[in-house]
Amino acid sequence: MNRILVALDVDDRARALALADELRGLVGGYKIGSRLFTAEGPAVVRALVERGDRVFLDLKFHDIPNTVAGAVAAATRLGVWMVNVHASGGEAMMAAAREAAREAAARLSAPTPLVIGVTVLTSLTAEGLAATGLAGVEPAAQVERLARLALSAGLDGVVASPQEIALVRRACGPGFAIVTPGIRGGGATTAGPDDQRRTLSPAAAVAAGADYLVVGRPILAAPSPRDAAARIAAEIGS
Ligand code: C5P
Repeated sequence: MNRILVALDVDDRARALALADELRGLVGGYKIGSRLFTAEGPAVVRALVERGDRVFLDLKFHDIPNTVAGAVAAATRLGVWMVNVHASGGEAMMAAAREAAREAAARLSAPTPLVIGVTVLTSLTAEGLAATGLAGVEPAAQVERLARLALSAGLDGVVASPQEIALVRRACGPGFAIVTPGIRGGGATTAGPDDQRRTLSPAAAVAAGADYLVVGRPILAAPSPRDAAARIAAEIGS
């Protein structure tokens, strides 16, 4: 299994597809987030799916169960391989997402996409959480709570920062997918300015228990994205 998911954090379809063409065969898939999706819409997802790529649609759905179910069904019809929802939307919402993915895939006789939960945004501190009403709750405790809830709702895994990999693995067991951004150092060193703070190298993240590594700028901003991806792949034996 190739664990590297490249975050296509660019604004236009031509650039996204050129990057995907350059990296194809070296990485395990491409993450399309709200930036590219809002700029270019589902056409860019279809273009990659048609090329046989695995697409992680990172739109972090968070709404009432019926609406999220509809969005996940639509993502499934687009042919995405992985999609995510906010775990804080609750167990019923996550279960509806899971069921919608299964039903839509069954109707198409297609594989069911992995449905992944987002726990606590890494940009949120204890003070930020308190301001949302969770006073006295440590972010790590909230991550664990939401990861357990995602597991019990039947989700396939969660997004976890490098600091949270081990605690999620302990809480949710070996079969639960852990998708980890914040990969830096080792083969994933960035040239330019960087806002990631709590980071792990590719090898350390895999050793800690990550199943998939989301890597953006260390590949996108490298002089040769292909060489950068190859270095990371070699480091983790992907
Ligand atoms: O460029 P970089 O490697 O930091 O890209 C990481 C990707 O993962 C970005 O798309 C970013 O939005 C996303 N992400 C993150 N931290 C999280 C969740 C998602 O960096 N906690």
